[in-house]
Amino acid sequence: MMLLWLLNGILLGAISLLALACIQISSVRKSPYHTFASMVKQYATQKLLAFVARYMRRRFDRDTKHFMKKDGREHTQFLYSSPPAANDIPAEPAAVYVHLLFGLRDRELGAIEANFASFVYSVFSALERDWQRLARDLAAGRLGKDVEVPDSVRTACDAALSPEPARAAELREIFESEDAFRDGRLARRVWPHLNFITTVTSGAMQLYAARLQRRYTGQVPLYSALYAATEGLLGVNLWPEESQPRYVLHPRAMLFEFGETAGTDGDKILLASELEVGGEYELIVTNRSGMFRFRMGDVVRVVDFYNGAPIVEFLYRKGQLLDVHSEKMSEAAFFGALRSAADGWSSTLVDYTTAESVLLAGAADNPPHYVVLLELNGAPLTDDERQKVDESLCAHHEVYRSFRCQGGHRDLPRWCASDRAAFERLRQHVLANSDTSALQFKVPRVLRTESLLQLMLEGATP
Ligand SMILES: *[C@@H]1O[C@H](CO)[C@@H](O)[C@H](O)[C@H]1NC(C)=O
Repeated sequence: MMLLWLLNGILLGAISLLALACIQISSVRKSPYHTFASMVKQYATQKLLAFVARYMRRRFDRDTKHFMKKDGREHTQFLYSSPPAANDIPAEPAAVYVHLLFGLRDRELGAIEANFASFVYSVFSALERDWQRLARDLAAGRLGKDVEVPDSVRTACDAALSPEPARAAELREIFESEDAFRDGRLARRVWPHLNFITTVTSGAMQLYAARLQRRYTGQVPLYSALYAATEGLLGVNLWPEESQPRYVLHPRAMLFEFGETAGTDGDKILLASELEVGGEYELIVTNRSGMFRFRMGDVVRVVDFYNGAPIVEFLYRKGQLLDVHSEKMSEAAFFGALRSAADGWSSTLVDYTTAESVLLAGAADNPPHYVVLLELNGAPLTDDERQKVDESLCAHHEVYRSFRCQGGHRDLPRWCASDRAAFERLRQHVLANSDTSALQFKVPRVLRTESLLQLMLEGATP
């Protein structure tokens, strides 16, 4: 109480001194008294500000205690449905299971967040596969014995769970209804307040994003908020309500330079102010820790400027070119052609990858061509449907068309149907042989080694 009076007293004193000083200054401007009055004023203002700042700081600390912990993850843990222990599960299937369990338990879930749309899709597939076990564990309020997690994680998860028979029954009813996993209404039925899914949907992720919406999430907006890489933050998407993501390159995140990709000798390097709307450029970045003029391999298109900073769309990764006759078929061009052809197929395109035939044994006996591996939902492609892709490639790619028309390279694409298992083998192989994490994994659109291609071809039908 005493302290409060004292503080009040100081505060009042400070304010009156300040008021006094102001009055004095305005009435006796330029007198010798002026200097003294202004000193008093400055002193009082400083004291007052310091007091206010201390008070605000204390309030801020109190309100944001959980933000202040050292470990990065703990800053935001309270935002998530899962307890921290769920982040310590080494094996991916078990981790997905546990996050799903806590997610399902949380009827108020407002957002879903993951690096890539492909991962969100695989989580929904896991839900489709495992919903009976999940509903069982939810009702019982503990992790089933068949979930393989370390003991410490199990204890922590069980402590955070409690039996939820009503929620489990509600979910069972949703999952058992007809077309629950097909009609695109699942996400909003499970989580009525789900506002958005934030995940990368640009470039080759479009395929997964479209599939995710068609089957599971329907109208829930997909928001690709950040354009980022291991080099750091590149851009921010300021237009969450638009379906095609575009990013302002953040002027203070790094130094951006732009390599021209159009000309053949594309050696010219430009600065942001020299770019043109509609131009396609390779990003060259220099970041704060001295990664100097690094060519990331990302090619972007400038679509506009925002306060002078370029707004870009991600187009493709430069390494993912098919180039059997120096036609330089980019990932974006191939994917665009494949997708528009796929609209006319009876089966749905689930995933794809390609390779150049030079990787195959006996390659020299055949004219060089593309090996295309598809995962389809439905029957294998008919000759007619394959033909459509060739036509579509011709329509999308000038140089490809010129080769096809000259007649010398009739054999360009060659098809192999593949299956889910092959794509899963590829994924496991990449995860086991690089430091890519499951969350960062992207299906390579062009396979560069014979062993990877062989891995995909095992059991494939020509
Ligand atoms: C700069 O890039 C390097 C290489 O990718 C990365 O290891 C480093 O963390 C980046 N620095 C910053 C400040 O992001």
